[in-house]
Amino acid sequence: MESDTVLVTGGAGFIGHHLTSTLLSQGRKVKVLDDFSSGTELPTHPLLTVIVGDMSESSVREEALHEVKSVINLAAIASVPLCESKPKLSSRVNYLAAQGLFKDAFRLGVSTIIQASTSALYGVPNELPLTEKSPTKPIGNYGLDKQKAEESLLSFHEHPVCALRLFNVFGVGQKRDSPYSGVLTIFSDNINKNLPLKIFGDGHQSRDFIHVNDVVSAFILCLNDLENNGTNSKVSGKKFNVCSGNSVTLLEVIDSFSSFTNTDIEVNFESPREGDILHSLGSFEFLNNQIDWKPSENFTERLRELL
Ligand code: NAD
Ligand code: UD1
Repeated sequence: MESDTVLVTGGAGFIGHHLTSTLLSQGRKVKVLDDFSSGTELPTHPLLTVIVGDMSESSVREEALHEVKSVINLAAIASVPLCESKPKLSSRVNYLAAQGLFKDAFRLGVSTIIQASTSALYGVPNELPLTEKSPTKPIGNYGLDKQKAEESLLSFHEHPVCALRLFNVFGVGQKRDSPYSGVLTIFSDNINKNLPLKIFGDGHQSRDFIHVNDVVSAFILCLNDLENNGTNSKVSGKKFNVCSGNSVTLLEVIDSFSSFTNTDIEVNFESPREGDILHSLGSFEFLNNQIDWKPSENFTERLRELL
């Protein structure tokens, strides 16, 4: 009998926890491959198997890919500054391990693969909002390695594949005590602990924050479409922005947090971070046209949930 299992690499990470629990709740069998370098323990579930290992090792990939129908590749070094300080690690995990995974997967009979790509591929934009037709010119190791991984997957034209270029994902469940987490998690954690916030730059940099539940729904809609329609799927062979279509500055975010807590929040300004872009804003029209995906419109409410 054909396997129904989805392999989620990096399934113990922030997005992975949310994606895995949704797939399980829909009755899918899930295998998670994670080395727990930034992941955290997953609740046990009868349909869940967890393999602890490094995706860079081919023997680990082979074990994980055994009797798998589809793969969602989330495993990565997701922090821009960490990839800047550890270029070899970035290249090994974000590019080479991903490329190895795609090759091994198709060799072993996997049908469908989705890659967690990133808006970092666009680098410093010429104009906003960014569409999938905007030029890609990443400015740091993270964006460069993720670009090579995306190109590698999309070169498998004869298989149902797609890449989702996630913008800045936020929501509960991101590691709270890590300097490598996203800015909204770091800010909310510091506010809860009554610690001052650090802004790298002047705080006028802006990001398009997309809620993790919206990201999960994009992955699952694409997965179902690719599994049902193969290379005839409207998403097959393509890359899509997964974003909210709105952007806010860090100073605006801090104003919102301040109004939730009814206090002044202490902020220290430091030099801008290496490899940082100033502004990011995406258009989600393409994905919306293909499979009717749309982000939710409740940023302020979702922001409040972080506290
Ligand atoms: P995360 O760090 O929480 O999750 C990544 C997971 O990969 C972790 O559980 C980690 O332990 C695992 N991992 C790392 N190296 C591994 C290896 N060699 N072998 C096996 N597992 C390994 O990050 P996240 O925010 O959940 O990001 C998931 C994916 O989405 C990443 O590919 C990231 O590049 C992409 N992405 C994230 C965002 C965001 O804002 N969070 C935005 C764009 C793209
Ligand atoms: C984030 C993701 C990355 C993803 C990209 C897509 C994380 C950790 N990184 O990178 O995986 O591919 O979005 O666009 O989720 N900042 C501060 N103070 C802090 C922390 C950050 O001022 O304490 C600033 C940063 O300098 C940056 C902005 O906040 O200007 C956002 O930083 P961060 O949340 O790390 O996200 P990105 O670098 O955009």
